[in-house]
Amino acid sequence: MGRRAGQVRFRISSPIVTDMADTGSTTGTIVVLVSGGGTNLQALIDATADPAYGVRIAAVGADRDDIEGLARARRSGIPTFVCRVADFATRADWDAALASQVAAYRPALVVLAGFMKLTGEAFLRQFGGRTVNTHPALSPSFPGVHGPREALDYGVKVTGCTLFVVDSGVDTGPIVAQRAVTVQDGDTVETLHERIKIAERQMLVDYVGRMVRDGFSVIERKVTIS
Ligand code: GRF
Repeated sequence: MGRRAGQVRFRISSPIVTDMADTGSTTGTIVVLVSGGGTNLQALIDATADPAYGVRIAAVGADRDDIEGLARARRSGIPTFVCRVADFATRADWDAALASQVAAYRPALVVLAGFMKLTGEAFLRQFGGRTVNTHPALSPSFPGVHGPREALDYGVKVTGCTLFVVDSGVDTGPIVAQRAVTVQDGDTVETLHERIKIAERQMLVDYVGRMVRDGFSVIERKVTIS
């Protein structure tokens, strides 16, 4: 479409296309938020080693200390920050502080990669429409933190992962991409989740790159990268 790489555009229920360049974001820059081991983050870090990927991770934030996700960022020389709910009087205060810490890096896109907190009003006011999250189930099935366990308990034969644009619900936002993963006889929650995570990492790297390089729009629930 002839736009500069890194200009992320979005629209939600509106015919207006907004170039993220207008919001003061830095071209190609993302902030990644994590809460755990950070294998999805690592996949993004590895992808950014290739300049053709067109994405720079400006910072990695977390809602807790001492996690491997933060260690992965530090080993790669990426700035980190921690914003803990317990350090704030209210959840809303935490949410506003998180938004301002992320904003300091002027990201075009925010990526929640195993971030186990719901972002709130202040965060979504600033980053709504340009925050994505991964979920280890095929939305709208099995939202919440036990996606692989609930899929297994339900007896589904196919589950998978979903990349979506974050809204105020729990794993309810407009879907960017999905990958199917077959449930195998004898799967445990752990073996199933590990296989889902392989698909999840590939999906995340592929689509974050495309969203940042090519831009995207969200019209009602339909996400288009172009
Ligand atoms: C992923 O499956 C993510 O969808 C879920 O937690 C897992 C995080 O994995 N919310 P990692 O920390 O990226 O290894």
